[in-house]
Amino acid sequence: MECVHLLTAAANTPLQPLYHSLFDYYQLQVWIKRDDMNHPVIQGNKWHKLRFNLQYAKSQGMQTLITFGGAYSNHIAATAAAGKAFGFKTVGIIRGEELAKRPQNWSPTLQTAYANGMRFQFIDRQTYRLKNTQDFLKQLQHHHPHSLMLPEGGSNERAMLGFQSVIEQLHQQCPGWSHLFTAVGTGGTLAGLAKMAALNQPSHRQRLLGVATLNQADFLQKTIRQLSGFQSHTDQHKQVIWQLLTQYSGGGYAKTTDACLADQHWFEGTFGILLDPIYTNKMVHGFLEEMRQQRIPPNAKVILYHSGGLQGRSEEDGQNNSVKTD
Ligand SMILES: Cc1ncc(COP(=O)(O)O)c(C=O)c1O
Repeated sequence: MECVHLLTAAANTPLQPLYHSLFDYYQLQVWIKRDDMNHPVIQGNKWHKLRFNLQYAKSQGMQTLITFGGAYSNHIAATAAAGKAFGFKTVGIIRGEELAKRPQNWSPTLQTAYANGMRFQFIDRQTYRLKNTQDFLKQLQHHHPHSLMLPEGGSNERAMLGFQSVIEQLHQQCPGWSHLFTAVGTGGTLAGLAKMAALNQPSHRQRLLGVATLNQADFLQKTIRQLSGFQSHTDQHKQVIWQLLTQYSGGGYAKTTDACLADQHWFEGTFGILLDPIYTNKMVHGFLEEMRQQRIPPNAKVILYHSGGLQGRSEEDGQNNSVKTD
């Protein structure tokens, strides 16, 4: 156990200042929290969401990690890598039964997960929707005894704990931060950061802005409320406010727009920091749009949370895998 505790500790990652005349014009101070550098193979928010789950599974003598996702899920890749690194078997329940007989059509994410030892069960989209139901989970548990079931995206209560270290580091690195932008898939990362920011009892107002990558993501509000422990997103008893921005999803998951691509290229070219094609590209686009629309007040201290996902870029050219929608 001792060894797993040590191995699952969070590394201190840099908070890198971003200087640009555009930010001066809007009177913002901007930093990027480089959690894409927090673990050699299990990057960013994925590492934080898995750390306490891995500890728990080891402490309970569990042998297998089972989880759910689509063909491009960073969480699937991260779980497979974690299984390999920490000695668990891994099983991925993957949306899309058509992939079962067509390994040649597997995404680089699935291929890497497979190479890391994950075994797949491909299911059709209708059955996939049952993934959180008692019956479905019971059956899985029956087939895979001594296993820990991780929800899609790895967003469970234990995952929330992983974000405490991020907030503590930010508190040390930039005590006066007022705004934090993060990408939202299942909402776990936004919820974890908001929960831990509130527990940290800041002396000033902090706003956490989650940029949704899925279309019509308002349904996530409920999950984020539950996981963060906030009664409502503007829980007035707390200095911390979270908000889900749904207008920057660029046509939906793994899709993009000219405007989003332009912002991604500008950001990468200007600061020399790579973004992933599904999540952090939209987070940066959302931030730049909010800035241009003057929705961020002057003198704000803004943190962009780099949640990793860079394994989602194609290996040969480092280019986008997303599809343009306009
Ligand atoms: C790189 C990256 N950033 C952000 C997210 C969104 O995290 P969450 O599902 O906790 O909202 C994901 C989720 O897969 C991700 O891979």
